[in-house]
Amino acid sequence: MAPLSSPGPDVTSGAGVPQVADIAGERLAREDPDLGEVIVTEDEIRDKIRELGARITADYAGRPPLLVGVLKGAFVFMSDLSRAIALPVEFDFMAVASYGSSTRTSGVVRIVKDLDTDLAGRHVLVVEDIVDSGLTLAFLLRNLAARQPASLAVCALLVKDTEVTAPELSYIGFHIPRDFVVGYGLDVAERYRNLPCIRRYNGQLP
Ligand code: IMP
Ligand code: MG
Repeated sequence: MAPLSSPGPDVTSGAGVPQVADIAGERLAREDPDLGEVIVTEDEIRDKIRELGARITADYAGRPPLLVGVLKGAFVFMSDLSRAIALPVEFDFMAVASYGSSTRTSGVVRIVKDLDTDLAGRHVLVVEDIVDSGLTLAFLLRNLAARQPASLAVCALLVKDTEVTAPELSYIGFHIPRDFVVGYGLDVAERYRNLPCIRRYNGQLP
């Protein structure tokens, strides 16, 4: 079928030809001095999601999980991860806010948006973008465990090399250095969530 408008460079197919998202991400990075080196590439994310999806599909055979996304950061990861799971999963979302700075957790967390689903008897898989100190996750798991799920596990895309002791981290995408990172759902003041890869942020943190 003929394209409706002038197509520009062919970015849709072919080995070694960059995808549309690559090009948008490259351009964003070129135009923004605060964006540093790529920590996890788009290809690495894609491969890892396939691997995690296959593991989750095998582990949850016969007991499809309720995916609980932690907003807002997890929305991109959850979208891609869910499509790599070959089970009839269900979705719900929760939003939490930490008192104090938006870039460092105080440990005192409050629920901004709660789940719509009753967790009793459900197999709950929490989908997180990043675990730094683990304080947010510890709060969440305590809170969710009290609702009597049949099982409770966590899939985190990124885990920082900080002291993290969260035994329920069943699925981990990547261990990364302590630097502040953005992209693929992760933000600074709501920006950069649409970067297709994970980059170091070299700007001033609010
Ligand atoms: P924790 O409670 O210290 O584990 O922090 C978790 C939350 O802090 C994440 O859900 C993010 O919202 C935010 N966060 C921690 N590190 C980063 C980062 O490098 N980039 C963006 N957000 C981060
Ligand atoms: Mg954030």
